[in-house]
Amino acid sequence: MKEAIRFTFFSFVILLIIIVTIIWPIYGFTGIGLIIFGLGIYDIFQKKHTILRNFPVLGHMRYIMERIRPELHQYFVESNTDGKPIDRNHRAYVYERAKLQNETHPFGTELDVNQESFKWMQHSIYPSQKLKEVPRETIGGSKCTKPYAANLFNISAMSFGALSSNAITALNLGAKAGNFYHDTGEGGISKYHLQGGDLVYEVGTGYFGCRTEDGNFSPENFKEKALLQEVKMIEIKLSQGAKPGHGGVLPAEKNNYEIAEIRGVKPHTTVLSPPGHSAFKDAKGFLYFIQNLRELSEGKPIGFKLAIGSKGEFIDICEAMVETGIKPDFITVDGAEGGTGAAPIDFSNYVGMPWEDALIFTVDTLRGYNLKKEIKVITATKIFTAFDIFKALCIGADLCNSARGMMLALGCIQALKCDTNKCPTGVATNDPKLRRGLVVSEKWKRVKNYQEQTMEDFLELLAASGCDSTDQLNRKLIFKKVNNKILSYNELYPDIEEGCYLKK
Ligand SMILES: Cc1cc2nc3c(=O)[nH]c(=O)nc-3n(C[C@H](O)[C@H](O)[C@H](O)COP(=O)(O)O)c2cc1C
Repeated sequence: MKEAIRFTFFSFVILLIIIVTIIWPIYGFTGIGLIIFGLGIYDIFQKKHTILRNFPVLGHMRYIMERIRPELHQYFVESNTDGKPIDRNHRAYVYERAKLQNETHPFGTELDVNQESFKWMQHSIYPSQKLKEVPRETIGGSKCTKPYAANLFNISAMSFGALSSNAITALNLGAKAGNFYHDTGEGGISKYHLQGGDLVYEVGTGYFGCRTEDGNFSPENFKEKALLQEVKMIEIKLSQGAKPGHGGVLPAEKNNYEIAEIRGVKPHTTVLSPPGHSAFKDAKGFLYFIQNLRELSEGKPIGFKLAIGSKGEFIDICEAMVETGIKPDFITVDGAEGGTGAAPIDFSNYVGMPWEDALIFTVDTLRGYNLKKEIKVITATKIFTAFDIFKALCIGADLCNSARGMMLALGCIQALKCDTNKCPTGVATNDPKLRRGLVVSEKWKRVKNYQEQTMEDFLELLAASGCDSTDQLNRKLIFKKVNNKILSYNELYPDIEEGCYLKK
């Protein structure tokens, strides 16, 4: 109720400001009167809007308020902890690190540490020495001849098309300066990706950049891209947390000539990637596809990204790995609460497993089939802070990606307009007028700063936990309040004995 009153009050203030500053000086009182009269007549006789026919002139307030509601809400109503999908505290965390501003917080936590599901980590009375450098994680199993030593925190998949050319360029330059990788997203590799940063080349169901004319996988085109020296790993996208089972969506407004050419599609049409791959139809077929990509890329690490849906299908893939001996080098796990440029709302809200359950299930299944030692687990979904990375690694991930964290570092203000080509910050738009607002020479530094500062904080948490290396991180170090009891993750999700599913 308090929020509603504040909201109405601020809406009126803004409307008053508009009338006094814009309309009155130009048209005076008589002019305003005539405009209002004409508007009233039009409203009564138009047939589209019931509210305007019944409440001429006044009814416009509703549409104006609806239009500016998100902005008013964010600026005047939202508290530090309730913004959606990313609350103000987390957004501020990224902005401060990106701009190298104040990294401390005054006067204690604003979080309700006694609320159900609250998570925290244990510290040690005997902290370890803070590591001087962020450790790297080598990705590449026994069949991989070009393993890659990855940073622990990287840029998650976001295509050129979903993001502007300036955003992609700044991300890649940031990745280069900070020595972390940049996942291309399913939209292919553009010249903006080739600024010298390490790339993970994502191959989605649309096979953009490696497709035949009729939209199937083209080994020749794939090989050409995979052999680029910037490409360090290849990720086959099975699904994405925000829209599993749907496939990518590039709205027509964002699909300009340049993007259409890179993707091999028609410009100014909505581009929907198919929900599934045409290159394989079952678990073994999928593994042979992985083997094929490994050969075509001459031994680069090959992995896949998915949001967990049917547990049985994932188990099938693991069993096929055991049977055929063909294994991916990494698996990227995304959660239902993950981000997207554009998705149907039901898919975003109700399809796919939430992140924590998905990560636990993936790690445990791989351990159960004795596959975890060879296959690295990468994860993304609301990993913004050093604690988020710490928690993910304790659960069993080997490294993390961030999409929306990196967007915030680029200057995203969560305007929620990624699907309209009207992103006001130039991050998620291909409108040249808006894109110019994003100054690459400034923003790449912010991407680098955010990543570096977060990793610095991570090293401090690691030291505070008493661990000397990330290998020591485990589920006993983090806790969650469940049914009013505090339980460690190890109690909640006990460790699976390596290979135990093979004995059945
Ligand atoms: C604008 C945008 C575009 C994305 N495009 C892709 C994509 O092309 N391929 C993909 O696998 N995931 C894509 N994602 C999902 C992210 O890579 C990531 O998995 C998900 O947003 C969860 O991470 P986050 O919480 O850090 O955003 C996109 C996300 C956003 C916000």
